[in-house]
Amino acid sequence: MMAMERPLTEHIHPGRAPLDIEQYERLGGYQALRKALTCLSPDDVLKEVTDSKLRGRGGAGFPTGQKWRFVPRGDATPKHKYLVVNADEMEPGTFKDRLLLEGNPHQVIEGVIVSAYAIGASRAYLFVRGEYHLATQRLEQAAAEATSRGYIGTTILGSPFSLELHVHGSAGRYICGEETALLTSLEGKRAIPRAKPPFPQASGLWGRPTVVNNVETLCNVPHIVNRGAAWFRGLSSGADAGTKIYGASGRVRRPGAWELPMGTPLRELLEDHAGGMREGYGLRALLPGGASTSFLTPAHLDVAMDFASVEQAGSRLGTGNMIVLDDRTCPVGMLANLEHFFAQESCGWCTPCRDGLPWVERILRAIERGEGRDDDLDILEMHTRFLGPGKTFCAHAPGAMAPLGSGLACFRDEFERHIRDRACPWSGR
Ligand SMILES: Cc1cc2nc3c(=O)[nH]c(=O)nc-3n(C[C@H](O)[C@H](O)[C@H](O)COP(=O)(O)O)c2cc1C
Ligand code: SF4
Repeated sequence: MMAMERPLTEHIHPGRAPLDIEQYERLGGYQALRKALTCLSPDDVLKEVTDSKLRGRGGAGFPTGQKWRFVPRGDATPKHKYLVVNADEMEPGTFKDRLLLEGNPHQVIEGVIVSAYAIGASRAYLFVRGEYHLATQRLEQAAAEATSRGYIGTTILGSPFSLELHVHGSAGRYICGEETALLTSLEGKRAIPRAKPPFPQASGLWGRPTVVNNVETLCNVPHIVNRGAAWFRGLSSGADAGTKIYGASGRVRRPGAWELPMGTPLRELLEDHAGGMREGYGLRALLPGGASTSFLTPAHLDVAMDFASVEQAGSRLGTGNMIVLDDRTCPVGMLANLEHFFAQESCGWCTPCRDGLPWVERILRAIERGEGRDDDLDILEMHTRFLGPGKTFCAHAPGAMAPLGSGLACFRDEFERHIRDRACPWSGR
C-alpha cells in the first residue's frame, strides 16, 4: 500500500478557506472531468468505478458501481435521469461529510459531474442538511465558479454531455436522509419513505431513474477516474477498498475526523488518532458508526473497521464515526438520550415506530430516575423485536433498536442495578 495517502482530505485544512477554482485546478482539479468527457465513455467510467470496489459511505455500504448499473441505459430510457447527493448528515456523532463539503467543495462538485456523466443524469441535486450554512454557501460559490468555467451547463467542454446542478436545503428532519424520504421531500412533499421496489434507480425523483449517493462516496470518483481502480483498491489492505473518513466523539483526548486506509483497526483509531480516553475516564463501550449501530466493547478493539469485520463483531461500520461511552457516564441515560432523538425523528408512518419509540424513551427515563419496574427490561426487549429489521417501513426503527438491543446485552447489570436500588448510580458523579 502507498504510505498513508489521503486523496479526499489532502487539500483540506480546517480553519482555512477552501481552494478556489484556480487553486483547485492548479492541483489537478477537474482533470478527472476532462479525462472522462474527452477520453472515456460513460460505460468506461462505470466500469472503472465498479472495478474499484467502491462501496457507499452513507452507512449501508452498497457497491457503487452495482447501484449505477441498475439505472436504465440506452435511447429508450426516460429523457431525464437524476443524481442526488445525500448531504443530509443528521446521524448523531457523524461529521465526515461536513468536512468534505466545507473543506473542498470543488472536489464534491467534480465528483457529482463525473458521476452524473457515468449514469447519464441530466440534473443533479445536492441535498444539504439545513444547519450546514457554511457548507451550502461554499457549495453554491464552487458551483458558480464551475459554471463560469463551463464545467456545468450545456455541452460541457464541447462534449454532448449537459448537466444542471442545484444546491437544495434539507427540510431539517433525520428521515430526510433516508433516500426515498429524501426524494419525496425534494418533490416538495412531506418526507416519508417509499416502498422499495421500485428502487430509485428505476423510479426515483418524479418517477424517473435516480441515483442517491453519499457525499464521501462521490468524492472518491474523480480520484478513481484519475488514478485507476487498482490504485484505489491498493489504498486499503483489507477487504474493502479505498480510504475512509473515520471520526470519534465522546470523552477522548482528541475528538475529530481522520482519513485513513479502510480497515484501520479500532484500537489504532481510538488510541493513536483520538489520543485515548481523557484523564480519569475509562472506555466502557462505543457505537462504531453513528447512533444507529450496535455497541462494541473493549474486547473488540482489534476489529478492523471495514464493513465485513464490524458486522462479524456484531455491529455495523455505518458512517465509521464512533461515539465513545466512558465509564463515568450512565449507559441508561445515554440510551435514553439516543432514543429521545429517534422518537422525535420518527416520521410517524408506521405504528411500531411512531408509538414504540416514545414508549421506549419513557421506560428508559423512568429507569434512569430510579422508577423502573421489574418487567421494564422485558418490555424493552419486546420492542427490539417488534421494531427490528423487516417490521417497519424503513430502516429508522431497526437503526434505533441497534444501540438499545446491544445496550441491554452489554449493560444488563447496570439496568438491573438501577431498578433494584431505585436510583441511578451515576447521578451527581
Ligand atoms: C433514517 C435514515 C437516515 C439516513 N441518513 C443518511 C444521511 O444523512 N446521509 C447519507 O448519505 N445516507 C443516509 N442514509 C442512508 C441512505 O438511505 C442511502 O442508503 C445512502 O444515501 C446511499 O448512499 P451510498 O450508496 O453512497 O452510501 C440514511 C438512512 C436512514 C434509514
Ligand atoms: S420506520 Fe419510522 S421513520 Fe421509517 S417509515 Fe416507519 S414510522 Fe417512518
